[in-house]
Amino acid sequence: MLYIASDHAGYPLKEELKLFLEEMGLEFEDLGNEQLDPSDDYPDFAYRLAHNVLEKEDSRGILICGTGQGMCIAANKIDGIRAAFVHDEFTARSAAEHLNANVICLGGRVTDFETAKKLVKIWLETEFSREERHERRLEKIQNIERS
Ligand code: RB5
Repeated sequence: MLYIASDHAGYPLKEELKLFLEEMGLEFEDLGNEQLDPSDDYPDFAYRLAHNVLEKEDSRGILICGTGQGMCIAANKIDGIRAAFVHDEFTARSAAEHLNANVICLGGRVTDFETAKKLVKIWLETEFSREERHERRLEKIQNIERS
């Protein structure tokens, strides 16, 4: 399953990306916020999405806040989440190819709608390279999580 969630600062971009995912014919679940609520807090959505991604095998998630960075920091606190902040084609491709990121984070106040759609498409369509050096590095991250 593909999950998407945002706080208020990411809400307009989330709604735009939902239309894009629908156009692409992709199944997804919106984990909130359900409305634009200026008093909401991004860690709540990062936590909810991260747990959903971990619960269902082969799931992935898109998190959006104002900078993209708060969501990324929060999501990466959870073991098994590899959340990558993406802001251009290189970081979107590398997030999948090198980092095997199961979550990407976008900044609603950083990245325009059209760029964001392009980045999501790149990340969704790029496979993890499975190169030994990348496997090795991800394994080292897992070891840090376990320590
Ligand atoms: C909310 O105003 C804003 O601080 C938050 O969305 C985000 O940018 C944090 O990284």
